[in-house]
Amino acid sequence: MAELSPMMKQYLNIKEQNKDSILFFRVGDFYEMFFDDAKTASEELDLTLTGKDCGQEERAPMCGVPYHSCEAYIARLIEKGHKVAICEQVENPATAKGLVKRDIIRVITPGTVIEDSMLEESRNNYLAAVAIVSGNAGLCFTDASTGDCHVTLIPPDGLEAAVKDELMRFSPSEVLVCGELRSNSQELWDFITKKLDCAVTERPAASFDTRRTERIYSEHFGVSELENLGIERGGAMAAAFGAVIEYLYDTGKSRNISVNQIDVYSSEQYMRLDMTAIRNLELTETMRTKSKKGSLLWVLDKTKTPMGKRLIRSWIEKPLHSITAVNARQNAVEELCSDAVLRGELAEALTGVRDVERIMTKAVYATAGARDLLGIAATAHKFPVIKKLLENSKCRLLREIYEGIDPLYDISSLIDAAISEKAPITVREGGIIKDGYNEEIDLLRGHMKNGNDFLSEIEAREKERTGIKSLHVKYNKVFGYYIEVSNSFLDKVPEDYIRKQTLTNGERFITEELKGIEQRVLTAKDRAFQLEYEIFDGIRKQTAAELKRFQQTAAAIAKIDVLRSFAEVSVNNRYTRPLVNDGGALKIINGRHPVVEQVISTPFVSNDTLLDMQENRCTVITGPNMAGKSTYMRQVAIISLMAQTGCFVPAQSAEIGLLDAIFTRVGASDDLAAGQSTFMVEMSEVADILKNATRRSLLILDEIGRGTSTFDGMSIARAVLEFVNDKKRLGAKTLFATHYHELTEMENELSGVKNYNIAVKKRGDDITFLRRIVRGGADDSYGIEVAKLSGIPEEVIKRAKQVLKKTEEEGIVTYKTAPAPDMQLPIEMQQAEELLSELKTLDVNTLTPIEAMQILFDLANKAKSV
Ligand SMILES: Nc1ncnc2c1ncn2[C@@H]1O[C@H](COP(=O)(O)OP(=O)(O)OP(=O)(O)O)[C@@H](O)[C@H]1O
Ligand SMILES: [Mg+2]
Repeated sequence: MAELSPMMKQYLNIKEQNKDSILFFRVGDFYEMFFDDAKTASEELDLTLTGKDCGQEERAPMCGVPYHSCEAYIARLIEKGHKVAICEQVENPATAKGLVKRDIIRVITPGTVIEDSMLEESRNNYLAAVAIVSGNAGLCFTDASTGDCHVTLIPPDGLEAAVKDELMRFSPSEVLVCGELRSNSQELWDFITKKLDCAVTERPAASFDTRRTERIYSEHFGVSELENLGIERGGAMAAAFGAVIEYLYDTGKSRNISVNQIDVYSSEQYMRLDMTAIRNLELTETMRTKSKKGSLLWVLDKTKTPMGKRLIRSWIEKPLHSITAVNARQNAVEELCSDAVLRGELAEALTGVRDVERIMTKAVYATAGARDLLGIAATAHKFPVIKKLLENSKCRLLREIYEGIDPLYDISSLIDAAISEKAPITVREGGIIKDGYNEEIDLLRGHMKNGNDFLSEIEAREKERTGIKSLHVKYNKVFGYYIEVSNSFLDKVPEDYIRKQTLTNGERFITEELKGIEQRVLTAKDRAFQLEYEIFDGIRKQTAAELKRFQQTAAAIAKIDVLRSFAEVSVNNRYTRPLVNDGGALKIINGRHPVVEQVISTPFVSNDTLLDMQENRCTVITGPNMAGKSTYMRQVAIISLMAQTGCFVPAQSAEIGLLDAIFTRVGASDDLAAGQSTFMVEMSEVADILKNATRRSLLILDEIGRGTSTFDGMSIARAVLEFVNDKKRLGAKTLFATHYHELTEMENELSGVKNYNIAVKKRGDDITFLRRIVRGGADDSYGIEVAKLSGIPEEVIKRAKQVLKKTEEEGIVTYKTAPAPDMQLPIEMQQAEELLSELKTLDVNTLTPIEAMQILFDLANKAKSV
């Protein structure tokens, strides 16, 4: 077999160490891919697959992309879940002896991207790690592009559900796991690898080894600092955190990362909100079109900065679970609501603030260009302006924000003084440093300019001397400076010209003098470019060294941006400050749905709500289709949620007893991909709710049981309602919409259940929707009348009416409440008790001997089966 070419050997060596990535191998102005990587990339990127001689008989499959436009290609590969290893030429090909040295400079993976072109401005891109140590789960979520880092510990009780909730809430784009996780929890392993829509990277167990992480800790933060944060040495949080940091080191090929601060949080700090609730309540996108327009975020987000956009999303997805914390935000919103001038000035100052978190990360990774630094400076100029606006603020949170903003004069003035506003994108071709900043650069630029001036002098002088009118002094990369003479004047060319090249219409010459100048100019240029780069790089390093100050300021700016947005929306949409307390009640006067009221053309009809922990726990809502049941229930959930994010709410007034969770079961959503039918999805969601809700939770149950036959569905709906209403079992505040009118009987049978319906006016065959919620059950579904409104053919409507009439004549099924079985009793005891009560109620005197025999026989049989 023929020997491989040296470059191919080098390629295969490097590829061997980066098996799970597509290798971008730098050759001149291209990144080339070979073998399987080439096949994959050509397919994913629509590139032509060619071949390259590699020394063997068969050519190696190959495709390539130009280096200057590689980012767009990498972005597409990353989006499709691939990893890309960037292999650069690490010596100058011009001076290298033999094969140019090449090395991996970075591996880009879905969770470690820092390039803005591959990131969405308005959301964080999280890399997660899951570790299980001594039964606890440790989770770490880091956004490598901003330095945002959250760590939490999940105790063994209910571990799987809680881990899933957190993973879904952060929706990371990449999760780090180690093989051991599978033996610790197959359920979590399956969830992460199959259900969670993200890249999964298996790391060696050593990566999660806490002794190793301790070393990383002490190098990165200092051990004592971590213990102060509450991260236990050798615990699960330490393992997850260490795995993330090590992965960032490994993929970035550097210890410079932007993670500086760790937020150690407990899930108790936030309202529990699972993915189903986030989706059903359309908090950040609509269910049908997945667009932001039409979601709660769309209404509330009037932020001006990328940091604010990311923060408002996270606040909406993570409502608070602390009255003090809610009040702190509300106080700030109230203060901002009361000062329209301040709001306006803040809006103006915040407009144009760049994504300093991400630009600073680029500075840390040394990929930021001069224009990025200019962006940092321009933004830093706004810091003192924003700070000044908050100078007289009173409430604690606004004071904290004021304190948190660092004007960063040192950095902005450094950049202002050194970097030219006209700096190009490239960093090695000069034009970056301002005139007057550095003497040597000025001097070299002088040489370059003199050289150029000199050239025009030579041109004039030579024209004069030789009498050649078409003589020109020009420059190209191959010959440097030369004199061009057209054919008609060739006889006038003097002796001292040295011929270099013949063209169709002329000749090119050089002279000793030109060579000398060229040498001077080119040396000056090289030296100047090199020096400019060095100075630029120094300033970039100096800026990067202030990362922590920038991050703290960016965090403060994000907060004021969100609070201002809340205030702005609250004033414009007539929201009021809700009272959030621990009273356990939910009282809303004239509440509205914040999104629906923005999108409908008719006036929105406001409605009241009363839920508490005593007589008004469960509201059973009936009413015709289209009446507004679903809208009403979501409105109550969204108002409560908004209250706990610190925002004001669309209501005349509201009192919200702090909720620990909102659970929803709304409509039918298929999950056929995961092998579950509509009804199975519905039932497993209900099961989750019944397992995880507490009496402090709010439940939105919209038409439970709809997905199966009427009687099965109704029975399930009833049993669920009995369960959630029962104080001994759950007793959660519940809104329960149903078309099973039989369920309205429960108001008379169970305390805590109240009937409501959404009123309609019926005249003849037509109905008008009043959108008002009123006490009592609805008398009818008016399904056929609503169907008529939708344009179903008259003939079908008529037939439906006939069928309905017949069914009604044939009898109605009524349901009695099942006696609540005592939850403490095991099943055998219950059966024994049943036997006993049967015996007790038996009137032996009235039985015939045959009957007595029969009963005795039955009882004996039952007793045997206990
Ligand atoms: N309070 C209100 N004020 C004005 N319009 C409303 C109000 N509530 C609902 N609507 C309008 O009525 C439409 C239907 O409401 P919704 O989907 O809540 O009805 P529904 O009772 O749940 O119907 P179904 O039984 O078919 O599920 C909404 O899309 C909205 O346009
Ligand atoms: Mg509905």
